Amino acid sequence: MHRPVLLNEVLSIFNPQPGEKYVDATINGGGHATAILERIGPKGKLLGIDWDCALIAKLKDKSKKTKNLVLECGNYADIKSIARKYSLDKIDGILFDLGFSSHQLEESGRGFSFLRHEPLDMRYNIYENTLTASEIINTWPRKAIEDILRRFGEERFAGRIAAGIIRARNSKRVSASDELADIVGRCVPGIRRGRIHPATRTFQALRIAVNHEMDNLGQGLRDSAALLKPQGKLVIISFHSLEDRMVKIFLKEKQKEGVLTLLTKKPVAADAAEIRVNPRARSAKLRAALITSNQ
Ligand SMILES: C[S@@+](CC[C@H](N)C(=O)[O-])C[C@H]1O[C@@H](n2cnc3c(N)ncnc32)[C@H](O)[C@@H]1O
Repeated sequence: MHRPVLLNEVLSIFNPQPGEKYVDATINGGGHATAILERIGPKGKLLGIDWDCALIAKLKDKSKKTKNLVLECGNYADIKSIARKYSLDKIDGILFDLGFSSHQLEESGRGFSFLRHEPLDMRYNIYENTLTASEIINTWPRKAIEDILRRFGEERFAGRIAAGIIRARNSKRVSASDELADIVGRCVPGIRRGRIHPATRTFQALRIAVNHEMDNLGQGLRDSAALLKPQGKLVIISFHSLEDRMVKIFLKEKQKEGVLTLLTKKPVAADAAEIRVNPRARSAKLRAALITSNQ
C-alpha cells in the first residue's frame, strides 16, 4: 500500500472547504485525494489525474459511488485540456505529488525496482509512451547514456557506468532490472557502497528520461498556475534535487512576475515520526504558493 506523504501538511495548506474544487494531478491510489474529498463534501469536485491507466481503472472501480470525483488517465502536462474536458476552472487547489508510488515500485512489474527481476520498461503510461528503459540501455550510444545518467541522475560515475552497460550489452542484451543493477554495481567503486544502492541514481535517471519527467513537470506547473483562481493554492511534493530545483525556480520566477506568493520560504520536510512509519517520506520536500493574479 502507498502511504500519502506529508498528508497533514497538504491538508493544513489547502484547508479544503465544502463545495471547493481541487485537482490531484498525480492521484495514484488516492491517498491525498480521499482526505480532500471528505472535506469538500458532495457539493465539491475533485479531478484526479494519473498517467498510469491501470491505477485509474482500479480507482474508478473502487470509487463508483463517489459522486464528487472525476478521474482521467492522462499526463499532467495536459492538465489544461483535461480540466477543460470536465468544465473545471477557477480551481481552489492543485496538488502534484511527484514520481512513482510504492505500489508501482513493488507491484507494477515494469522494472522500477533494482531489487526485482522484471523487464526494463519504467513507463508510467504503456499506451502513449513508446520509449522504454530497455531501448535506452540496449540501443542508445554510450555518450547519450552517459549524458542522461549525469543530467537526470547526477551520477558521478556516469562515464564508467555507460561504458559498463555497452560492454555488457555487447555480449548479451540487458533485459531485466536486477541484471542492470548488477552491471552498475560492478562499475561503481567500493566507497559508494553502503549508504544508497549503487544503482539508485541510474534507475532515477532512466525513469526521468523514459517518462520525460522534467518537460512534463515544467508544462504542468505553468498551466496549473493559470488554472487556479486568485487565492487558489498550488502544492508540490518532490523527491529529488532536480525536481525540487525546477519547482523552486518556477515558484520564484512566478513570484517575481506577481502571479503568486510563496507560502513556504523553505521546503517543508517530514518529521521523524512520519519517516519512521514511511521511509519514503525521508526525501520529500513540499513547496506551496498562493495565486495572487491570473497573469
Ligand atoms: C507519488 S505517486 C502519488 C501518490 C498519491 N498522492 C497518493 O497519495 O496515493 C505519483 C504518481 O504520479 C503519476 N505520474 C507520474 N508522472 C505523471 C504525469 N506526467 N502525469 C500524470 N501522472 C503522473 C505516477 O503514475 C504515480 O501514480
